[in-house]
Amino acid sequence: MLRERPEPGRSRSRASRPCARVEIPTPALLLDVAALDRNISRMAAFFAAGPCRLRPHFKAHKTPQIARRQLAAGSCSGLTCATVSEAEVAAEFCDDLLLANEIVSTEKCDRVAALARRVKVTVAVDSLAGLEAVSRAARAANVTVGVVVDVNVGQGRCGVEPGEAALALARRVVESGGVTLRGVMGYEGHLQPIRDRSDRESRTRQAMQGLVSTAQLLRASGLPCEVVSAGGTGTYDISGRIAGVTEIQAGSYALMDTDYSGVGVPFEPAFSVLGTIVSRPAPDRCVADCGHKAASKDHGYPVVKGIDGATVTALNDEHATMTLPPGSKVAVGDLVELLPSHTDPTINLHDAFYVVDGDLVIDVWSIAARGYPEHRAVLSLEVAP
Ligand SMILES: Cc1ncc(COP(=O)(O)O)c(C=O)c1O
Repeated sequence: MLRERPEPGRSRSRASRPCARVEIPTPALLLDVAALDRNISRMAAFFAAGPCRLRPHFKAHKTPQIARRQLAAGSCSGLTCATVSEAEVAAEFCDDLLLANEIVSTEKCDRVAALARRVKVTVAVDSLAGLEAVSRAARAANVTVGVVVDVNVGQGRCGVEPGEAALALARRVVESGGVTLRGVMGYEGHLQPIRDRSDRESRTRQAMQGLVSTAQLLRASGLPCEVVSAGGTGTYDISGRIAGVTEIQAGSYALMDTDYSGVGVPFEPAFSVLGTIVSRPAPDRCVADCGHKAASKDHGYPVVKGIDGATVTALNDEHATMTLPPGSKVAVGDLVELLPSHTDPTINLHDAFYVVDGDLVIDVWSIAARGYPEHRAVLSLEVAP
């Protein structure tokens, strides 16, 4: 996997787009498009049997070209987003968006209402204050925003408790102007990484029982509840086969990280961080230029690809320190690939994917929704003299 860099005098001009892996400025994100397409097809095939649909989570990659491929593969009800700015980017090519998150500030609710003019938008709500904020913005814009009541299925993050608390909030949604009750969501995030399949399965079934029975309670009380949204990459084939769950919000499956590889889901790594060896200070040690500003470490250090026996032992801002096996020929200037442990925060660090087919760079895709794009928009506003 290691390739030497071109001779300094023979490197590409600064302005040209890299054609080969060795020409990519590091650190950089590589995307193996064949692996990506296999992951996308496998997930779409699982949901093709129905009745549950897939609503891929855009936050995982924030990249329109990837989301377009997910939608084109079929079995999808739309896209899931975590932020309003992701939804604004996704609305350019998808007409059914779920913001699986609480949106409460006036500025963000106004942006959601503006989006609702163009596409079907649904937001998660778990408080009266949040409901009122969305309702007020929607009424002011004269649009209807969909709402799902966010139910805490055990993660202990956002969400009202299943049952009566969710019903009480759902009634308030129905009574509010500018919004329409679409159903419930409950993300079993705490169960995604469980390694033991039977443990993961039994706990997921239990968590989904609380969500599905809440949906039944809403319907029995005369309220609409067409959407029951849940799930992620670790539980898609459990929650996605539970009667009453209508859609799954999986995201990481498309690109995969080493943490999810350990869970044993049937998807393959499709992205990596490319770095250059900048130091070989000892026979058993080398250092690359891809530290934790290029690869997240919140789920552990990345795995080294292509150097047998090499292990990352430290990840500083701009340095990845690796131990090497005896006799390693790794040299300063060589390239190295790291497989990150956590997809979303790694991709969020980068502007672009270098789409590779073997050693060729066949495209470069913008990670258009990375960071907090609203601030880029503010910076681009003209300041009055
Ligand atoms: C609300 C919500 N839904 C779904 C997911 C699933 O994502 P993944 O498939 O990447 O685990 C997440 C991930 O954090 C999430 O926060």
